[in-house]
Amino acid sequence: MKRRSLLLGSLATTAGLAWLLRPREKGEDHSSYFRSLSVALDSDGRSKPTLVIDRKSLIANIEVLSSHLKGRFDYRIVAKSLPSLPLLEAVMHQTGSNRLMLFHQPFVNRVAAHLPQSDVLLGKPMPVAAARNFYRQFAGGDFNPARQLRWLLDTPERVAQYAELASGLGQDMLVCIELDVGLRRGGVGNDQQLTEMLDLISQSPRLKFSGMMGYEPHVTKVPGDPVKYRDEAMRTYKHYIELARQTLGEQWPADVLLNAGGSPTYQMYNTGDFPFNEISTGSCLVKPTDFDMASLADHRPASYIATPVLKSMDTLQIPGIDLGGLQAMWDPNRAKTFFTYGGYWKAKPESPSGLSTNPLFGRSTNQEMLNGSRNIHLRPDDWVFLRPTQSEFVFLQFGNIAVYEDGAIVERWPVFSEESA
Ligand SMILES: Cc1ncc(COP(=O)(O)O)c(C=O)c1O
Repeated sequence: MKRRSLLLGSLATTAGLAWLLRPREKGEDHSSYFRSLSVALDSDGRSKPTLVIDRKSLIANIEVLSSHLKGRFDYRIVAKSLPSLPLLEAVMHQTGSNRLMLFHQPFVNRVAAHLPQSDVLLGKPMPVAAARNFYRQFAGGDFNPARQLRWLLDTPERVAQYAELASGLGQDMLVCIELDVGLRRGGVGNDQQLTEMLDLISQSPRLKFSGMMGYEPHVTKVPGDPVKYRDEAMRTYKHYIELARQTLGEQWPADVLLNAGGSPTYQMYNTGDFPFNEISTGSCLVKPTDFDMASLADHRPASYIATPVLKSMDTLQIPGIDLGGLQAMWDPNRAKTFFTYGGYWKAKPESPSGLSTNPLFGRSTNQEMLNGSRNIHLRPDDWVFLRPTQSEFVFLQFGNIAVYEDGAIVERWPVFSEESA
């Protein structure tokens, strides 16, 4: 008898403790910022999932970026993270940079056709067939590929392929070499590979060496001291520069392009001497959630997915064995249910606060279930806001970007499409 009541007592204590540890209520209706954004979307006649860029925040982020670069490095705009011609134009205008980094052949053709003043560096080595397609689809105009387009090459085999393409087309081509400075994603990994590639480039009458790229995002991502990883990456970079200079002698270009950096690392070069002369970033200007990191604390979110609420319910129900009531009892942030127009994007609910998807109900790209607390008063046709986890690819899923400024949607920016024209 004594043992039984002791056991019951300790079970009750454990249950009581667990109850105390259950999630706290986090729900809150939209702040005045998201209320104004909702009014702006309604006034603009928006009725479907929409990608919004806040122009003031975008400009503030560009100013932060410029304040760190301080003109010490040239700036290259990473276009895959800002995949819209007017968005790129806005960043080009504000930063004074005409340098773009591109990662997709149809987008290279679009840039060549519509931003003929740009200097393009490929951010990854492309199949030689993609390069052939670029020239096949290039309709001429002010963009001069022989001087404004730099292909990125990673192996001697690829150099040989590009040399053959260039001579077959009778087309001069600028080429840059991809270095592995620690990321372990390919590129030059030893001296012999580099000298072999440089020799092949020198032997080709049509290829011209124009620089190197050493991308180093691992510096802030792997466990350990970022400064140590940065310094190791820079030692490797410097070593390959010296070797390439020696190998090329007179052929080393006076205007050599030495690219590094990305959003997570760019502020690590605020002071000190580094071997490269150009930094590329894109994501930090719109700051998706993957970039909520200490090294980008002074950048602010500038992009949201806005989507209409289709249905609003004061309970949570799960089909089959209905565990909705239990879920809601445990977590006050599951008291209510909302279904949104579309969903399952690479994105996190942002406003109203405390919304979350339901692991028992599952995800949907058609009508996504979100749960929230009793303090959230969303009704059908209201807007829910999410933050993309990344801008690359996500921005391409919504048609024209709605540009928000001073309480209104002031512009519509088309995103890149697969068609090359
Ligand atoms: C080669 C290269 N440079 C720079 C970047 C940085 O882009 P972001 O600033 O958008 O992270 C990337 C991103 O993937 C990249 O692949």
